[in-house]
Amino acid sequence: MAIRSIRTIGDAILEKKTKAVKEMTGRLKELISDMFDTMYDANGVGLAAPQVGILKQIFVVDIGDGKQYVAINPEITVVGEEVQTGEEGCLSVPGKEGVVTRPMHIKVKALDQNMNEYTLDASGFLARAFSHENDHLQGILYTEKVEGELEDVVYEELEEEEEI
Ligand code: NI
Repeated sequence: MAIRSIRTIGDAILEKKTKAVKEMTGRLKELISDMFDTMYDANGVGLAAPQVGILKQIFVVDIGDGKQYVAINPEITVVGEEVQTGEEGCLSVPGKEGVVTRPMHIKVKALDQNMNEYTLDASGFLARAFSHENDHLQGILYTEKVEGELEDVVYEELEEEEEI
């Protein structure tokens, strides 16, 4: 188990585009394992490779639905018309939250940690998490999409806050 340090807003690496993964290596497997450790340690529900300083198209998600999602070279292939508007946070923007509108339903094509392709229909919070993490791979932080002001997370809410 290894916890990596999480880059925070202002770090130029968070604004860079990432490169596709061509083959799975021992180093990348270790990265993915570390990303889960780092995400759980920070009480997050999603983490993208650039957040730990690696410019590769990889993110991990665990929203508590009993699954550990790994998305390598992901592509959002379908975006539903219906949207959801709600609070969002990010481990790279500690202590802040803001309202972001995301699609309610998306279809994702990606590779898993064994480089096997899968497609996933994600709705609700899972669709929000995948959309948020996919943005990280394009160098986009949710702060660019916040409607209104970025707000401070109030202390009482901290324990329940889900940061992606
Ligand atoms: Ni994030």
